[in-house]
Amino acid sequence: MNHEQSRRSFIRSAAAGAIGAGAAAHLVSATSWGASGRGTSARLKVGVIGCGGRGTGAVSDILSASPDVELWAMGDAFIDRVNSSRNNLAGLEESLASRCRVPDERCFAGFDAYQKVLASGVDIVILATNPHFRPMHFEAAVAAGKHVFMEKPVAVDPAGVRKVIAAGEEAARKRLTVVAGTQRRHETSYLAAMAKVREGAIGRIVSANCAWNQGGLWVVKKEPAWSDTEWHLRNWLYFAWTSGDHIVEQHVHNLDVCNWAIGATPLRCVASGGRQVRTAPEYGHIYDHFAVQYEYPGGVTVHSYCRQQPGCKDRVAEQFLGTDGVLDTSPGFASIAGANRWRFSERNNNPYVQEHRDLMSSVLGGQGLNEAKAVAEATLTAVMGRMAAYTGKEVTWEFALNESKLDLTPPAYAFGPLPTPEVAMPGRTPLI
Ligand SMILES: NC(=O)c1ccc[n+]([C@@H]2O[C@H](COP(=O)([O-])OP(=O)(O)OC[C@H]3O[C@@H](n4cnc5c(N)ncnc54)[C@H](O)[C@@H]3O)[C@@H](O)[C@H]2O)c1
Repeated sequence: MNHEQSRRSFIRSAAAGAIGAGAAAHLVSATSWGASGRGTSARLKVGVIGCGGRGTGAVSDILSASPDVELWAMGDAFIDRVNSSRNNLAGLEESLASRCRVPDERCFAGFDAYQKVLASGVDIVILATNPHFRPMHFEAAVAAGKHVFMEKPVAVDPAGVRKVIAAGEEAARKRLTVVAGTQRRHETSYLAAMAKVREGAIGRIVSANCAWNQGGLWVVKKEPAWSDTEWHLRNWLYFAWTSGDHIVEQHVHNLDVCNWAIGATPLRCVASGGRQVRTAPEYGHIYDHFAVQYEYPGGVTVHSYCRQQPGCKDRVAEQFLGTDGVLDTSPGFASIAGANRWRFSERNNNPYVQEHRDLMSSVLGGQGLNEAKAVAEATLTAVMGRMAAYTGKEVTWEFALNESKLDLTPPAYAFGPLPTPEVAMPGRTPLI
């Protein structure tokens, strides 16, 4: 669909009431486009909630993906993060920077910043805080009738996953667009590989292995002036309540690809893991390695590994063993060995921009693209792997989805004391 067509179909679908309240309200200005082209008032308004690295990156990506949007409002727990994001965005090339000059009165800080962004007149929101807050922010965004781009993972526990699934269904009823930051689903080489799987090029998948093994990520030491809560939020990778642990925060990408290729979610898993290298207090209480064996319907087994230990062999990949061949999905270099040899030979795309192109074409065309369920399932796949490793017990999908009472929400969203939980101990940590 070209740009003119997409504008026209946006107006058509808005008139038909097929889009969310925010975008529908925008129809007044959208219909006032003159022959001279788009004015500021004709653009869809984007709000960003969570102005860190990815929130800032996603703003740049959506501006690159479409000339029909402008950044309208920004929210973060901390005003210094809003300001640094605003400064970084000001340094983009002019065609992008000119569409993200947000005045102070539409910059919000605090735990309620998300509500202020949602009430500021935006049509689309980017949800890019740490994943703990995603269920709450997503639920509020859908209730407010906004189209959503939300980063993975979308929760840290079963309670959050259930909330995301329910809000995703509500978004579908409202025909809102929901795109998730599982960008492999928008990447040309992955799409080509999945088309090969669907056409039977490797036969029936019987097992798979996937990994996100790398060195460390950033870590923020506690400053004396900070409360525990502030430190947990600024150093969020290392607390299960804020990140879900690295199996959820990072490895969710690979597990999503497994669910996608196999076309199912796991029935059960067993796992082991621990904390061997990163034992200093700044690493909170999370593990630094996991190994999980997932069983899918039909006896398909997925062996999953993730590690954040510097100085070791890195591997970020998925491999699928079928009755007729083996698929390696390495981004940009996907290939099949076996009877139907194949190698991805097209130009790969930038999936971070493509996911926003797909979002915009759904918003403008009223298509209601909705990735909430898939990313919620990928998140639960990772969460159940963590639960199995922390407790040493087998965890079933049924238990994690419908019975588990695990909810990592702290007693209050307030800046104050918040002790670091004990490191989980298999055989002793209860499965709840
Ligand atoms: N798809 C990808 O490849 C990819 C890459 C990087 C990060 N991510 C995901 O993006 C999300 C953000 O990661 P990041 O690297 O940008 O982290 P970050 O720490 O740079 O940014 C997170 C921001 O959220 C803010 N925040 C925390 N709690 C908040 C609240 N209650 N309300 C408003 N703001 C709040 C923080 O102050 C911070 O500025 C994570 O879920 C992460 O897993 C995805």
